[in-house]
Amino acid sequence: MRFSSVWLRKKPMDYTLHQASGKSGLQKAMTAFDLTMLGIGAVIGTGIFVMTGIVAANDAGPAIILSFVLSGIACAFAALCYAEFASMIPASGSAYTYSYTVFGELFAWILGWDLILEYGLACSVVASGWSAYLQELMKGFGMQLPVAISAAFNPGKGTYVDVMATVIVLLLSAVLLSGVKESSRINDIMVLIKIGVVLLFVVVGAFYVKPSNWTPFMPYGFGGVIKGAATAFLAYIGFDAVSSASEEVRRPQRDMPIGILSSLAVCMILYIAVSVVLTGMVPYPQLNVGDPVAFALRFVHQDWVAGFVSLGAILGITTVLFVMMYGQTRLFFAISRDGLLPKSIAKLTKKSKTPVISILLTWIMATLFSAFVPLNELAQLVNIGTLFAFIVVSIGVVVLRVKRPDIKRNFKVPFIYVIPFLAVLSCGFLMVNLSGQTWIRFLIWFDIGLIIYFVFGYRHSELGKMIRQTEK
Ligand code: ALA
Repeated sequence: MRFSSVWLRKKPMDYTLHQASGKSGLQKAMTAFDLTMLGIGAVIGTGIFVMTGIVAANDAGPAIILSFVLSGIACAFAALCYAEFASMIPASGSAYTYSYTVFGELFAWILGWDLILEYGLACSVVASGWSAYLQELMKGFGMQLPVAISAAFNPGKGTYVDVMATVIVLLLSAVLLSGVKESSRINDIMVLIKIGVVLLFVVVGAFYVKPSNWTPFMPYGFGGVIKGAATAFLAYIGFDAVSSASEEVRRPQRDMPIGILSSLAVCMILYIAVSVVLTGMVPYPQLNVGDPVAFALRFVHQDWVAGFVSLGAILGITTVLFVMMYGQTRLFFAISRDGLLPKSIAKLTKKSKTPVISILLTWIMATLFSAFVPLNELAQLVNIGTLFAFIVVSIGVVVLRVKRPDIKRNFKVPFIYVIPFLAVLSCGFLMVNLSGQTWIRFLIWFDIGLIIYFVFGYRHSELGKMIRQTEK
């Protein structure tokens, strides 16, 4: 086989569907409302409870409000493209699986490797946010961890490891090992709690807003707003959980866009409301803390409300973390099932049918990063990985529409030549506004991925083996 045809080898659509067939036949019971709840449950977490403060203090000032609008719009375009893919290829592995069918193996591997970065680090970011809120809540009860183990590695501040982040990652890994899936009832309760505490903050905080805190509105100029959008983008990640449910939706063509866009819209409105109140309550330079929303309430001496909000944030962030960790284990599973990583990673336990090694890998990765790398740096890497995936998916959806118009799609992106184009443009724009250091780290990760592919995946690929056999 010629080299070029090897790395461009594509997984036939039927084969992908066959691989996923074990879990087909899902009940079509979800409505647009259920989808919206699913989206909000997977999205609202560390982004709103932590990143708002960090971005307001370091990048955008009170104009973080505009940053949230910009990144939300970019997400909405990409989300529609995700939905079309998900509606024709209902297989685990998300964008990785899609690009195997559209662009071929090498590209799929690059994207899969990119998504490992996205999900793995997103778990870590979310765990760090969880830890910050828990520690603040503990302080309210007079308990305090030694500084050295209270946050990620930053000897300047005397911190070395974030122990609480490792604890929650360990607990959720154990839950995943037990084979438990997220129940939609727990999700619904969590969503209500999350929306409840966000509204509680907005309503109570509104009484303490001093409009003078909003000037200067754009202390870092419009450039700061864009940089803020690129970082705050993290707050919207997770809605792909909605697009992957297309197989279970009663009327996907109608309900998918409603579900995706309305969960994004609800999140956007909540994010804007929180940023307006937060930056109105506290002068923005003081918001660079681990728990800005609770901090703002303590700042105005509403300690009880701060306690409730912290508790709600901790519960809410837990569901996001669960979804992220679940996504990461399924990604490891999908990639190794294809032979691009060792097959043993995809092994299921006999009893609970859980991918135990995938869970172990997810646990190790999330633990190491959340324990030692500061949240802000992690967030930028998560974003660059996610934006890259969004761009690939948006291009892929057009390519597949042209090449395979025959495939049944439960949901079609409206204005197929406009929306994906806008998605690529807006995500690309956010990507170039991430720091140079983030780009360097991203490219290093990318190179490591290429080495692994040519040393391992290229030879062990299941698709490759099949092609070789038919050629004999
Ligand atoms: N959107 C998720 C969060 O904000 C990653 O926690």
